[in-house]
Amino acid sequence: DVQRSLVLVKPDGVRRGLSGEILRRIEAKGYTLVAVELREATQEILAAHYAEHEGKPFYAPLVEFMLSGPVLAVVIEGQRCIEGFRSLAGATDPTTAAPGTVRGDLGRDWGLAVQQNLVHGSDSEESAAREIGIWFPELTR
Ligand code: CMP
Repeated sequence: DVQRSLVLVKPDGVRRGLSGEILRRIEAKGYTLVAVELREATQEILAAHYAEHEGKPFYAPLVEFMLSGPVLAVVIEGQRCIEGFRSLAGATDPTTAAPGTVRGDLGRDWGLAVQQNLVHGSDSEESAAREIGIWFPELTR
């Protein structure tokens, strides 16, 4: 099935000038860019986006980190692009994420309270629909 996924280049990726490299990998894989927008997150957007993590020890540092600079919000499209992008992104922990992945090639541990792991990608069709509705309500079909 053709799917859409919500991808974020997090503030660490934008700050380090990796937005283009990450978009390049998405396009090289063959997925279509449906929407690309550099913007500041807000408390409201992040509360919705990270609702499932509320109450976890890394929640407050995570929200603070996500507010520390602009993020690149992206919607991609293609057959099985949800699992495809997660495969491109690599495991959550950039220290051990496989080489060849965004996090494995470009990320590392910086000794901070939250894992700065460069990108977010929706983890299921339900999450993708929910997250696209949060970041790009105008795209909701
Ligand atoms: P992501 O999976 O996109 O969304 C939740 C984020 O929380 C995750 O990326 C990391 O940036 C961060 N995170 C997840 N688990 C931990 C953890 N154990 N310690 C610190 N940060 C974490």
